[in-house]
Amino acid sequence: MRRVSNDAGALAEAFYARTDRHPVGVWAAPGRVNLIGEHTDYNDGYVMPFALAQRVLVAAAPRDDGTWSVTSLNNDSTESFRASDLQPGMTGWQAYVAGVVWALQEAGYPVAGADLVLTSDVPEGAGLSSSAALECSVLTALADLNDLDIAGLERAKLARRAENVFVGAPTGLMDQAASTLCTTGHALFFDCRTDDAEQVRLDTASAGVEILVLDTRTPHALVDSEYAARRASCEGAARILGVAALRDITDLDSALERLSDPVIRRRVRHVVSENARVLQAVDVLRTGRIAALAPLLDASHASMRDDFEITVPQVDLAVEVARASGALGARMTGGGFGGCIIALVPVGDVERVGGEIVRNFADAGYRLPAHFAAFPSAGAQRLQ
Ligand code: GLA
Repeated sequence: MRRVSNDAGALAEAFYARTDRHPVGVWAAPGRVNLIGEHTDYNDGYVMPFALAQRVLVAAAPRDDGTWSVTSLNNDSTESFRASDLQPGMTGWQAYVAGVVWALQEAGYPVAGADLVLTSDVPEGAGLSSSAALECSVLTALADLNDLDIAGLERAKLARRAENVFVGAPTGLMDQAASTLCTTGHALFFDCRTDDAEQVRLDTASAGVEILVLDTRTPHALVDSEYAARRASCEGAARILGVAALRDITDLDSALERLSDPVIRRRVRHVVSENARVLQAVDVLRTGRIAALAPLLDASHASMRDDFEITVPQVDLAVEVARASGALGARMTGGGFGGCIIALVPVGDVERVGGEIVRNFADAGYRLPAHFAAFPSAGAQRLQ
């Protein structure tokens, strides 16, 4: 994948160079990390992501010939489709764009053809929601181009429908909600049953900490089948327990007594305990005690490793080394089976802790990871 600038002016120029006209505007939507609350969204539970500064940018202008022509500067490729091509199951990166047009039309929103030129600095396949960023950026652009008045939450749900039904990935709502609803300086406390959203202040600087994101760059080979399997286990457990979703379990011990399969018991214990950790984390942030997140991050990681069994050796090593190098707490973030960890580190320690992990990966013969400091950033918006 080519690295290209994520500057709105440069993208508008690239649009002009390719289409011989100026874009009507430039829109953006970010990737995310999840602070805590993993595999809880499709269990009607709680999540707490924040938006990254890394984002997908879209320059766009309408066309009157019923065609959508989409250029990805990262892939250096252009794809076109018309309304008659909008069939769920389409593959390739353009499916995320076509899926958004399809979801809007299915919901009764008229969407005219358009030229779209995209660029992204959200790492792909790293569990940072590059696909949600793509969907939400295109949705924001098309909503404006077509004068569609769609509230933020509905936008997130339309983008998720593109992902679930058109692309065919059975995800929850977290990633699209984060990309659409997050605001600068905040994490988003989101209740996936009631859709209640609260912006919770995440002022790391004043707490003397930073958030290190480290991409372990491990292959995501199992992610689709294992994600679907975890989801099926949770839904099966809810049926056995006679509840609508695992969110409804209030007495974990008695629920565990009623489950005979030890694997299912572990899955349930993760989801129920993770929901409780999100609620504790919200309390911690509401009172500005960011450092007190650390034990919750550690416990979340142990639960994902031992009960939900979605970590891999590289991810576990990264978390261990982060802690041994002075991180206050650390956990894998995202769907699992590779991807990124986050670590809460004293301010100024991102490079040192990241460097220790790189050294340990080199010693273990693993592919070298990439890391950066994350800042809670803005959700989807028009830039110009
Ligand atoms: C992926 C999915 C989300 C969520 C997380 C796990 O990112 O897209 O909906 O389920 O995994 O928390």
